[in-house]
Amino acid sequence: MLSAMAPLASELSSPVNAIPQSGSGIGVRALQVHRTFPGGVHALEGIDLDIVPGSFVALVGPSGCGKSTLLRIIAGLDTASSGRVELEPSSGQVLASRAPIAYVFQDAHLLPWRTVLDNAALPLELSGVSKPERHAAAREVLAQVGLGEFTARHPGQLSGGMRMRVSLARALVTRPRLLLMDEPFGALDELTRGRLDEQLRGLWHELGMTVLFVTHSLSEAAWLAERVVVFSPRPGRIVLDRVLDLPRERSASLRLEPAFAREVQVLSDAMVRGGA
Ligand SMILES: Nc1ncnc2c1ncn2[C@@H]1O[C@H](COP(=O)(O)OP(=O)(O)O)[C@@H](O)[C@H]1O
Ligand SMILES: [Mg+2]
Repeated sequence: MLSAMAPLASELSSPVNAIPQSGSGIGVRALQVHRTFPGGVHALEGIDLDIVPGSFVALVGPSGCGKSTLLRIIAGLDTASSGRVELEPSSGQVLASRAPIAYVFQDAHLLPWRTVLDNAALPLELSGVSKPERHAAAREVLAQVGLGEFTARHPGQLSGGMRMRVSLARALVTRPRLLLMDEPFGALDELTRGRLDEQLRGLWHELGMTVLFVTHSLSEAAWLAERVVVFSPRPGRIVLDRVLDLPRERSASLRLEPAFAREVQVLSDAMVRGGA
């Protein structure tokens, strides 16, 4: 269970005894990233990406095209067969391997015997932050995801959407500068997913981190992100890299507007062109 938790090995091993301050987002640059797995599966081919610090980018593409592989390489959980990934703060210098990154998966991966508060505080506990301090930080972030009243509950007493919000809180409690999300709301119903999308977009505005969000829903990608990268079927290549022509304020009603439908159509055309 622990291996699937949000905090990365680099965070777990770091001797942080204080809660990191919120910082601005970091940039991500992928340079000709290829990944072939032992056994010959060719997952990614020639990925070039330059992600501006603090931006919100969605990655879409058919199942098996290497989206998760790319996130794992960016997180340092896997390595490119050739090419490289650089993480950099806005100042331009390249960060050392210990970057403040958090990862959210499709399954919430909560510890069922722990309260919501202690689940959200876990990354800080593992890095040695004192109990009063980590509880205060976890309370703050739980309030931010709308779970301020539920800190004493256990995961079994929550809905799927609430569990995912605990998972998001646990990722945010470290004040990451890069948030990697791998189909986080894919298992939720449409209405719950829409609410979580709104909450996430609000948190992104508030906290200023860079978000890389994998989804196979074109409309979710278009509603959430400023920029959408569309991948071809395996081996994943980029078939479209587009800054969306949509307002910065995303209201629920945007989903009904012609401009939104046009953007979704552009993404859909690219998927078809890419061979999906
Ligand atoms: N560790 C691995 N060993 C071998 N093949 C893998 C491994 N991880 C992923 N793959 C394969 O690489 C391809 C891309 O996988 P993945 O990145 O999970 O795709 P996506 O997230 O876009 O659905 C798939 O064919 C998958 O089976
Ligand atoms: Mg995947």
